[in-house]
Amino acid sequence: LTGYITLDIGYKNTGATKSAITFLDGELGILKYRGYPIEQLAEKSTFIEVAYLLIYGELPTADQLNDFQKLISRHTLVHEDMKKFFDGFPRGSHPMGQLSSLIGALAAFNPESLKQGQSTEEVNLEIVKLIAKMSTLVSWIYKKSLDHPFIYPQNKYDYVTNFMYMTFAERTEEFTGIDPVVIDAMNKLLILHADHEQNCSASTVRIVGSSDANLYASISAGISALWGPLHGGANQAVIEMLEKIKEDGGDTDKWIAKAKDKNDPFRLMGFGHRVYKNFDPRAKIIKKACDDILEKLGVQDEVLEIAKRLEEVALKDPYFVERKLYPNVDFYSGIIYRALGFPTEMFTVLFALGRLPGWIAQWKEMKANKEPIGRPRQVYTGKTTRDYVATADR
Ligand code: SDX
Repeated sequence: LTGYITLDIGYKNTGATKSAITFLDGELGILKYRGYPIEQLAEKSTFIEVAYLLIYGELPTADQLNDFQKLISRHTLVHEDMKKFFDGFPRGSHPMGQLSSLIGALAAFNPESLKQGQSTEEVNLEIVKLIAKMSTLVSWIYKKSLDHPFIYPQNKYDYVTNFMYMTFAERTEEFTGIDPVVIDAMNKLLILHADHEQNCSASTVRIVGSSDANLYASISAGISALWGPLHGGANQAVIEMLEKIKEDGGDTDKWIAKAKDKNDPFRLMGFGHRVYKNFDPRAKIIKKACDDILEKLGVQDEVLEIAKRLEEVALKDPYFVERKLYPNVDFYSGIIYRALGFPTEMFTVLFALGRLPGWIAQWKEMKANKEPIGRPRQVYTGKTTRDYVATADR
């Protein structure tokens, strides 16, 4: 080779596939699921309806939605032996590590999912089971963190109400229902997280699935990718950052300076995005929802004011402006999760619950496209050929 290939390592802007699921325009801050603007879906739809849209490509009729919801309800129970996994997790183990293990283990309890060349009906059944059981397992991860008994699903509730029931109901108290404001907020948050084109975890699901690994193994891999603080783990990192700034006296200028200092590893978590070089449209919706929901629930959260001050200062600062760093989906979402009663370490599993339909849609599309097994190449930068040297001569 004469001259040099300037190689920007890593999947930064690789066109890895063709997809009809989600459209992003990073310059204009546009996000659409199957052509529907996220703003309309967040305002008018429900999470289960958006899940149907992402997976099957069209908004369901009333009957289709009713059948989908009923089928999911019928599969929310998990095999009793799945509970034994919870006995094995050490106290305080991270919910994302538990969730990726549990979802991978579902393959063992659904051996038919290992069958190659499953029919459409068989694949659809696996999809319904996974959506149903993940909500039960996420709520049980929360109960395990409290050392409280698991709450079993109730088929009479819709998906989000059932999830919140299993998460927050207690055996010792009569369940008096969930505030509609909370149900609406949870639907909105799950919708906003439902898919996002070829992000790190969706690409992971696609490449693992391209080896003909089963759906549960592919989604378990996606959960592990989402765990990283540069990806889905950022929503937990944002709250931890805001709490640290609060404890430090709330001096936002000091922390903005730290984020700009190349010698300081500190980054403004919840800021910046590989694709959005404008406002993340989800962040705009969540920021507005933050004010509405906290007001309706009568919740005061000092870190919300710190977040708003950070955003205000950063958006005027040349460092952030030049690098087009804006708040992303993770910057405000944790403040709402907290107002809804979730502890910080549950935030990323909530992101995973929301992203599940998107991962499933991406996996299903990759199979339908009959995409070949993913196998990228490299530019070799190692040693040229050399001969073996006996130990005594090294
Ligand atoms: C998600 O891809 C998706 O769609 C993801 C997601 C989804 O829905 O699936 O949207 C969800 O993962 C949102 C992102 C959550 N992560 C964070 O909030 C972590 C903080 N943000 C970053 O670490 C960063 O912005 C990334 C990882 C999100 C994007 O990184 P890039 O595109 O690789 O950009 P980069 O790291 O090369 O940064 C470019 C410049 C660098 O400075 P210079 O080398 O030019 O001097 O911007 C700086 C970076 O140092 N920079 C930041 C910063 N983010 C980037 N500086 C301070 N604070 C930050 N948050």
